[in-house]
Amino acid sequence: MEGAGRARPRLILALETSCDETAAAIVTDAGEIRADVVASQADLHARYGGVVPEIASRRHLELVTPVVREALAEAGVALDDVDCVAVTQGPGLIGALLVGIAAAKAIAWSRRLPLVPVDHLHGHVASLYLQPEPLEPPFLCLLASGGHTMLLDVRGHDEERLLGTTLDDAAGEAFDKGARLLGLGYPGGRELDLLARTGDPDALQFPVARVPGLDFSFSGLKTALLYATRELGEAELAARRADLAASYQRAIIRALVGRVREAVEQTGETRVAVVGGVAANSELRAALPDAAFAPLALCTDNAAMIASAARFAAPVSYPGYLGLDAYASR
Ligand code: KG4
Ligand code: ZN
Repeated sequence: MEGAGRARPRLILALETSCDETAAAIVTDAGEIRADVVASQADLHARYGGVVPEIASRRHLELVTPVVREALAEAGVALDDVDCVAVTQGPGLIGALLVGIAAAKAIAWSRRLPLVPVDHLHGHVASLYLQPEPLEPPFLCLLASGGHTMLLDVRGHDEERLLGTTLDDAAGEAFDKGARLLGLGYPGGRELDLLARTGDPDALQFPVARVPGLDFSFSGLKTALLYATRELGEAELAARRADLAASYQRAIIRALVGRVREAVEQTGETRVAVVGGVAANSELRAALPDAAFAPLALCTDNAAMIASAARFAAPVSYPGYLGLDAYASR
């Protein structure tokens, strides 16, 4: 407990299985990461060009116990040293979420520990609250991942207001679909980012959708890339892939950065933070030099961020949590 003299810190064991990463972490209640284990299933889904929910659930089932064991070993602790269990409740794939929730309930029940259900998106924001450089609210937060794109006005550790969201595809989805059109692997955000570095971002002009308020829209952009690839033909496409990647990425980043600037103007809140898988993008990081970015390892899905969010939420005690259910969307 914090402030309790030389008492050992309380340890949170967190599980995250909302999509295609099986993750477990051990974090202290002061936000220090003792273990952060992520087993990615990306290779398993790559040949399908996207996450296959049934395959994801089955793989989570195989991986969840070894991943928890590995987290405990990495932290050098036993299950008896854990004080609290946290788990992602949603949004995500229901079958995938249920594996983590069932495992978390079983662990909590076996040791009579309290359980904290955590919202995955809130978890992404809480990736900023971890040591060694925790960010304190208030700030504006751009959350850009494979499933979501949101602008949040974060007022407290557990208090955020939604300013804008995507009307169609998420930013990460736009990266993944663009990467696919350019013949890159899945998930393609990182590969597109790398390819874009060797291309000319002004080679092609892709439209940045204008939608009202602080919302986003990326589906038109993906269609524009589709037409551009068709017009070029195969040989020309191969020669200009890097230019296409750079121009396409430029359009996504412009849309994101434009909205962040508008949100700053409208709210008067000048501190900006960026979280989620797309926060790993090099052009986005360069385009917002004054913003706080989640550390690279904590941008894509992980359980340390879930443990971090659990520090600021009310735990559910036994047997109340046995009835906890997953939710697919917020
Ligand atoms: O947060 P995350 O791991 O999963 C969701 O909650 O959706 O985000 C994954 C997304 C994928 O769409 C991936 O392509 C994208 O983040 N991503 C990137 C980069 N690294 C990962 N997008 C652009 N540039 C990157 N460097
Ligand atoms: Zn995520």
